[in-house]
Amino acid sequence: MLLFRLILGLAFLATTLCAAAPTGGHLADLHGGKGVQCTDCHGKGRKVKVDDSETVPNSNCVNCHGDLKAVGENSKGHINPHISHLGKINCTVCHAGHQASQVYCANCHGFDLKIPAGGPHAPQANPLPTAPALPKGKIQTERTEVLVVGGGAAGMTAAITAHDAGAKVILLEKQPLTGGNSMLAAGGMNAAETRVQAMKGVKDTKELMFQDTAKGGKGLGDPALVHILADSSAASLDWLTGIGADMSDLGRMGGASQDRCHRPKGGSAVGAHIAAVLKENAAKRGLDVRVNSQVVKILKDGKGRITGVLVKGRHRGLYRINAKVLVLATGGFSANAELVAHYQPRMKGMITSNQPGATGDGVALGEAVGGELVQMKEIQIHPSVASGSRILITEAVRGNGAILVNREGKRFFNEIGTRDAVSQAVLHQTGESAFMVFDEGVRRSLKQIDGYFHLDLVKEGESPEALAKAIEVPSDAFRATLDRYNQAVDAKQDGDFKRPDLPRALRTAKFYAIEVAPGIHYTMGGLKIDADTRVIAKDGKPIPGLYAAGEVTGGIHGANRLGGNSISETITFGRIAGARATAFAKSR
Ligand code: FUM
Repeated sequence: MLLFRLILGLAFLATTLCAAAPTGGHLADLHGGKGVQCTDCHGKGRKVKVDDSETVPNSNCVNCHGDLKAVGENSKGHINPHISHLGKINCTVCHAGHQASQVYCANCHGFDLKIPAGGPHAPQANPLPTAPALPKGKIQTERTEVLVVGGGAAGMTAAITAHDAGAKVILLEKQPLTGGNSMLAAGGMNAAETRVQAMKGVKDTKELMFQDTAKGGKGLGDPALVHILADSSAASLDWLTGIGADMSDLGRMGGASQDRCHRPKGGSAVGAHIAAVLKENAAKRGLDVRVNSQVVKILKDGKGRITGVLVKGRHRGLYRINAKVLVLATGGFSANAELVAHYQPRMKGMITSNQPGATGDGVALGEAVGGELVQMKEIQIHPSVASGSRILITEAVRGNGAILVNREGKRFFNEIGTRDAVSQAVLHQTGESAFMVFDEGVRRSLKQIDGYFHLDLVKEGESPEALAKAIEVPSDAFRATLDRYNQAVDAKQDGDFKRPDLPRALRTAKFYAIEVAPGIHYTMGGLKIDADTRVIAKDGKPIPGLYAAGEVTGGIHGANRLGGNSISETITFGRIAGARATAFAKSR
């Protein structure tokens, strides 16, 4: 107990010192000036323990400062980045050791976060992999059976599945932390015919989920892949809950004909939760997960079979991993502004809700070894990114009852239509933005809404009139809009915009609004795969030894992905990729 208090005391002191320290620079400078020796962080001996492993938990930082929770509890200030959706990450994700910091939060959040030893507050560059010239002499080489590239939900799921099927696995993630875009996912995971639905009396079928998904994608999705998504969704949810996830809350997302979007109890964000569960499961299994490790080239032999990769580790430098099979799970390319503008010139300069690593590495790597790309022009804009930020306001807020109101104080569209349609409707309003309006009832129904208050994104009023004043819309029109909407809820019929699901009236003070505008959210195109997740070459044949899962692939969602289908896809196709890749590796 005494020791714990001492550590907490030290943590507080260290935090206070850090808070007073100038930002910029790096930890070596900051510590050096305070008499901390190199060996205090790196240990004694000739072999200095610095590597790219995610499971080296910065124990020396923790010994002095306490863990993230302890530091967070002792931090002052409105925004507390030590307790955030990033979960249990290494301290050096944000505080630079010897090099410029990653300043990870500043990539997404607009607020000016002062990070001690945080380096310049500029978004980090994320160059696409470029194959370097091989160094002269022997290059350090390792060997594994299954090599997974990408540490989002698809990659982690594939790696855990492959491990559990008996394969030796390495997972590489180019960012300083795992989680990928999945970690930012908010709304939930779609699944049909689940136990949760049965308990809540929701009558849904796999066939309905198939139809909603195919229709939402305007018929462009590959029916065989869409069937796999729908038919396996309940089993995927069971798998996820079986490894520790809580997916007991249920709601509806745009384009769904039933409540099938599963999320943690109380309506917390799904992504941070499952990223933490997957990370814990990887650690429990002793999986070899390496962050700061970018694959720069896929290697193949004279017969076109994949043999491994070249990796650039932030600490290790360039090395080679020979693998029997490779699974690409590197995500999409929404954060690659050039590539987005190339495929959709009208989206040039538009902000994105994505994490900065979503630059399309896997698409470039896969194409370089002959993989076919499909539906690359299908890029989704999400209607509700908080204006002036890159923070997604989850569709679940609308799903749980929020409405969209324009600057004239009027509703203008079915708020839970598909994203493409709602986004276009918002772009047609004055100022190309809208207000997402909800009340205390909606707020209480979805825990993740608290985060928007924490980030100062919400305007509020004790009455509809007070809120109208706060957001500067005509008060009479706004009050009339709310009254009319509430009558529609009472009558269970929205004659104005045919909104199919009217979960609750907006009558409980306080009243809230967040200004939102569309932003680039998801890339539906990518590497062509078959039902076994094998990457298909331009000649229509699978590339031996190359598998892919998640947003790096194309052809499932067609012209528009439904909210909640992405997490579903990552788990279902991640599991298939892990299993099939292991079988392939064992057969080689
Ligand atoms: O709005 C959202 O919560 C997004 C969910 C998704 O992209 O699936």
